[in-house]
Amino acid sequence: MSCFQWSEEMSVGIAAIDSDHKCLIRIIDLLHDIRDQDDSQRMIDTVLDTLLVYGRHHFAREERVLAACKFPGRAFHHSEHQGFTRYVESLRKRFRGTGDPQMAKELRDYLSAWLRHHILIQDMAFKPYVTGKAGAEEVANAAGPSLIDMVDGREMRLN
Ligand SMILES: [Fe+2]
Ligand SMILES: [Fe+2]
Repeated sequence: MSCFQWSEEMSVGIAAIDSDHKCLIRIIDLLHDIRDQDDSQRMIDTVLDTLLVYGRHHFAREERVLAACKFPGRAFHHSEHQGFTRYVESLRKRFRGTGDPQMAKELRDYLSAWLRHHILIQDMAFKPYVTGKAGAEEVANAAGPSLIDMVDGREMRLN
């Protein structure tokens, strides 16, 4: 069952960044199903790895657009992204040590909070600086392939 539904109100004005954010909603959905599965440990491990790849590509894309559009809050924004990566890395380390399946819930709660506080507030804050800016879409597209493919099975299978 999904707790988040993508809507146009969540758009930050750049299609490739919106697509990445939809990918994260998909990952949160996957975490909802994990507790019912026999291979939950492998799933959690794969999701943690995927999130690190996701962060590396998505944050690079976003930060390139923010630099191109001279968004004034980009240093703080970068530090927030680093916090996400640090958290996921530390959770992966703990998970590999304990294998505790409860971590699926901890991760889901963290990602839900990230969506509410980072994507819907901090990412939304750059919308006026990037929407309709010449070259912004091109910079976003050139930063890398769509991440939605990662969870749609074209590059990586999560189930
Ligand atoms: Fe973002
Ligand atoms: Fe961001």
